[in-house]
Amino acid sequence: MMGVKVILVLSLALSAAALRAIPNAYFVELEPSSELTPRATSHSSLYSDLDAAGVKYTVRTEYNIPDLFVGAAIDLADASHYAGLISVGSVKRVKPVHLIPRPEPVSVMIPDAPSPELIARDGFDGRWYPPYLPDTESTHVMTGVNKLHAEGLTGRGIKIGIIDTGTDYTNPWLGGCFGPGCKVALGWDLVGDAYNGTNTPMPDPDPLDQCAGHGSHVAGIIGANPGNVYNISGVAYDATLASYRVFGCADDAGEDVIIHAMLMAYDAHCDVINLSLGGVQGWTSSYAGVIASKLADKGMVVVISAGNDGQYGAWYASDPADGQSVVAAASVDNVVTPLQNFTLSDGYGPVPYYQAVAYAIDGPMKFYVTSFNTSNTTDACNPLPDDTPDLSNYVTLVRRGTCAFLTKAANVEAKGAKYILVYDNLDESSLIGITGQNQTIAMISQAAGVHIVNTIASGVNLTATFPQNTLANLPNPSTGGLISTYSSIGPTYDMFFKPAVAAPGGNIFSTYPVNLGTFAVLSGTSMSSPFVTGSVALLIQAKGRSPATAAHARELLETTSKLVPASNNNTSVLQTAAQQGAGLISAYNAVHYTTLLTPGELLLNDTANFKGEQSIKVSNAGFVKQVYSVSHVPAATVLTYNNSLAIDSPLPFSQAAASVHITPTTFTLFPGEALDISLKFTPPKSDDDTYPVYSGFIVVKSHVGEELHSSYIGVAGSLSAAHIIDNTDTYWGPGYTFPLLTDANENNINYTDLKTEYFTMTPDDQPTLNFRFLFGTVIAYVDLVSASLNLQRRGKSSFRGLPLLGNILELDDYPRSSSATDAPDNGYYPFQWNGTCANGSYAANGEYKMLLRALKVTGDPSNDADWEAWLSPIFGVNITTGSL
Ligand SMILES: *[C@@H]1O[C@H](CO)[C@@H](O)[C@H](O)[C@H]1NC(C)=O
Ligand SMILES: *[C@@H]1O[C@H](CO)[C@@H](O)[C@H](O)[C@H]1NC(C)=O
Ligand SMILES: *[C@@H]1O[C@H](CO)[C@@H](O)[C@H](O)[C@H]1NC(C)=O
Ligand SMILES: *[C@@H]1O[C@H](CO)[C@@H](O)[C@H](O)[C@H]1NC(C)=O
Ligand SMILES: *[C@@H]1O[C@H](CO)[C@@H](O)[C@H](O)[C@H]1NC(C)=O
Ligand SMILES: *[C@@H]1O[C@H](CO)[C@@H](O)[C@H](O)[C@H]1NC(C)=O
Ligand SMILES: *[C@@H]1O[C@H](CO)[C@@H](O)[C@H](O)[C@H]1NC(C)=O
Ligand SMILES: *[C@@H]1O[C@H](CO)[C@@H](O)[C@H](O)[C@H]1NC(C)=O
Ligand SMILES: *[C@@H]1O[C@H](CO)[C@@H](O)[C@H](O)[C@H]1NC(C)=O
Ligand SMILES: *[C@@H]1O[C@H](CO)[C@@H](O)[C@H](O)[C@H]1NC(C)=O
Repeated sequence: MMGVKVILVLSLALSAAALRAIPNAYFVELEPSSELTPRATSHSSLYSDLDAAGVKYTVRTEYNIPDLFVGAAIDLADASHYAGLISVGSVKRVKPVHLIPRPEPVSVMIPDAPSPELIARDGFDGRWYPPYLPDTESTHVMTGVNKLHAEGLTGRGIKIGIIDTGTDYTNPWLGGCFGPGCKVALGWDLVGDAYNGTNTPMPDPDPLDQCAGHGSHVAGIIGANPGNVYNISGVAYDATLASYRVFGCADDAGEDVIIHAMLMAYDAHCDVINLSLGGVQGWTSSYAGVIASKLADKGMVVVISAGNDGQYGAWYASDPADGQSVVAAASVDNVVTPLQNFTLSDGYGPVPYYQAVAYAIDGPMKFYVTSFNTSNTTDACNPLPDDTPDLSNYVTLVRRGTCAFLTKAANVEAKGAKYILVYDNLDESSLIGITGQNQTIAMISQAAGVHIVNTIASGVNLTATFPQNTLANLPNPSTGGLISTYSSIGPTYDMFFKPAVAAPGGNIFSTYPVNLGTFAVLSGTSMSSPFVTGSVALLIQAKGRSPATAAHARELLETTSKLVPASNNNTSVLQTAAQQGAGLISAYNAVHYTTLLTPGELLLNDTANFKGEQSIKVSNAGFVKQVYSVSHVPAATVLTYNNSLAIDSPLPFSQAAASVHITPTTFTLFPGEALDISLKFTPPKSDDDTYPVYSGFIVVKSHVGEELHSSYIGVAGSLSAAHIIDNTDTYWGPGYTFPLLTDANENNINYTDLKTEYFTMTPDDQPTLNFRFLFGTVIAYVDLVSASLNLQRRGKSSFRGLPLLGNILELDDYPRSSSATDAPDNGYYPFQWNGTCANGSYAANGEYKMLLRALKVTGDPSNDADWEAWLSPIFGVNITTGSL
């Protein structure tokens, strides 16, 4: 029997961070070369143009896909070269390169067992013996994938690109090999193990993942082989996988690398690609999102996770999922929690323990109870007594509470314990994962723990048996089938429909690197995205590979999905489409419905840009006459702001819904016929600044039982009025009104005190401008202006008459701040200024103010009135020779 190392983590930090621009790194898009110019020369002519303009730079990544992206990502030697870069004539567009945060699952439950043992336990001999058992995997049943498998749709012939941490193809359930003929038939490692987003990538041809796990889990959801003892398989398990590794073993990845991987997948003729990654951004205009969208328009379906930031409320969508033609995937909780049960010799139970794969214990084992007091608050918090026996042949049971799980684990381990169970100290329905290090440690319920302790105390010889090679699948009636609370909420600031659809993502059992456990249960939109990707592959297989199939894939999934209620105890209230999109996908309906509905999304925009007149087309592509009826089913309207502050989840519902006039509401279509239905929407009334996001569905029912819908979304308010720069003290309290200029000791530079504070601009003596955005802004600047000027004065120069002395910060496509208390989770932006301007020069000694301005939604950058602006108190710069 081998010791099993277990790493259990729950609630890892969510990736709330806004995408940060990498200093001095830019995408440079070239004017399309003329027919006469061989395209190979465009890069070299760019470089000679840059050299001629005196720009010092290094090339990060070159792109050369005509019509899509011909250009490069470059690092400027320093900021002073920016002006030269944008002056070069052949340059069409310059955009900052962002750092894309590493995808972190919301919860992780993985065993860490040595692989040969596990594989031996599973009886795998390297060959497959179809037919497999009927597909009973809960997530497949939720979406009809099981029925498609039964029909023989398994993704054969479809090529799926996976842009992630790489894939452990040595896992037999992921094919066991890499290269032509293998499941993972192609791919590339664009970065190497040590890549962290800021250092130099070290590419190689082998996308193996044996240090991260994320990409191997994603690959399994798409394509794991059936035939294992857990009876799980990928959605499209006969598809060909292309694995592009863009994350190293830790940290983030550059946006340039992710774009490069997307272009490689396109070049390799992938039918669909999956990106389980992203960060908060919320605009359709960011670069990775734009490229992803262009690729989708060219016929490669692009599916991207919607983000795990649901806790922060609405208007918190993720990039690159924001790209207009991308399929952004929200997450639904699995109807079961795949975990393990053990049985007790007295017949109590079975007892669920929160673990993906069974404790490797053969036969019954006795318990050792560290305290018979079932309300002991300090159980195993201190070293156990000297007379404690060797615990290696016991299951050691301790009570939760007071000290860390790992402290308890260390204390019992000191007495030889190998298998630890912690019973809850509260009577609650859900168990949590335990972050172990080398221990096999898992949680059981309070009731089960108390039963075991009391039974042993009464003198019964109680043993536990741990069934191997099985899953317990505990029903999850409270949140099963609902949108996962962590699933990010849209729409985008420019009112696009994000997310598009939802798929199972909460508590998903899939493959993992062999050295990290072979299988794991993970949660996140990282898991729902590959489910959608696999479903798209089945759809393409069923409908045939064609530009038309690709162009309509999102619409087919959207119009045939199942509407998700907001809770399981009152299923009549539907979750907002800003979080569920068009609902839980039904792969089976998407493949089989004979009625087609277009478009899948009706974008009503805000009240100032209201698009209330819409139409949908219903087509009968079947072989029988169908009688249709059309109706309006509103989803919950959610209030998203309170007093200019975004409301955190759960968002309050309001009774107000849009009304829709539909003509006609009933009609008959013969095979091949189609009809346009006209829709006239009236938004719900809103006379406050709560920015209610309303949404719902125009449902088309056919008498043969098909039920489809187009989804609409709008906001009852004018976004151009949305307040952007937080100028209240609600975040840090009285005395700390934002924006706030502070010194290196975080002292507030007093608003009223006009006596200037001088900074020497050494790293420990620089001013920091702390600010928050209440709503997203497509562009914001901080500029230096003279101390003697104020915003009211009108002159003849740049911004509302203020001569701008130098730009010191630019933020593009920027999201609102979150309610998090820290800057990394996007609670606020602390901009520490080191004295250099965007043109690279140091500010001259003197007295200044900082001018912060943010463009309002739908604002015209050339109209000063469309910006919100704020002027800082006066501060001084006093750089003395030699101090820098
Ligand atoms: C990335 O790695 C480089 C070189 O190893 C190191 O200097 C840098 O601090 C690392 N960055 C992060 C964000 O860890
Ligand atoms: C709690 O348990 C520890 C052993 O883990 C024991 O030493 C201690 O006496 C117990 N305390 C109470 C109040 O039962
Ligand atoms: C875990 O095991 C490794 C290898 O056996 C060892 O180096 C490490 O110290 C252990 N960690 C703990 C916390 O026991
Ligand atoms: C307790 O049960 C175990 C397993 O059933 C058995 O091996 C052992 O002999 C029993 N011990 C006593 C004292 O009955
Ligand atoms: C696991 O235990 C739970 C709770 O006792 C029970 O509902 C479920 O049926 C068990 N599953 C299996 C496979 O034993
Ligand atoms: C909403 O209107 C604004 C202003 O015209 C526009 O920029 C934006 O793209 C529109 N959004 C949609 C989804 O049409
Ligand atoms: C309804 O379900 C939610 C969880 O979805 C739960 O928090 C709430 O307590 C339930 N309400 C009732 C009345 O059962
Ligand atoms: C500014 O300074 C004055 C005098 O030192 C003090 O009374 C006042 O409270 C300060 N205001 C803030 C906002 O810190
Ligand atoms: C100052 O900050 C700018 C912008 O972040 C950066 O490019 C520059 O290297 C920094 N200079 C120093 C001396 O730290
Ligand atoms: C600037 O720094 C120098 C050297 O510390 C000092 O003598 C001088 O008074 C400072 N000037 C101002 C305006 O604070």
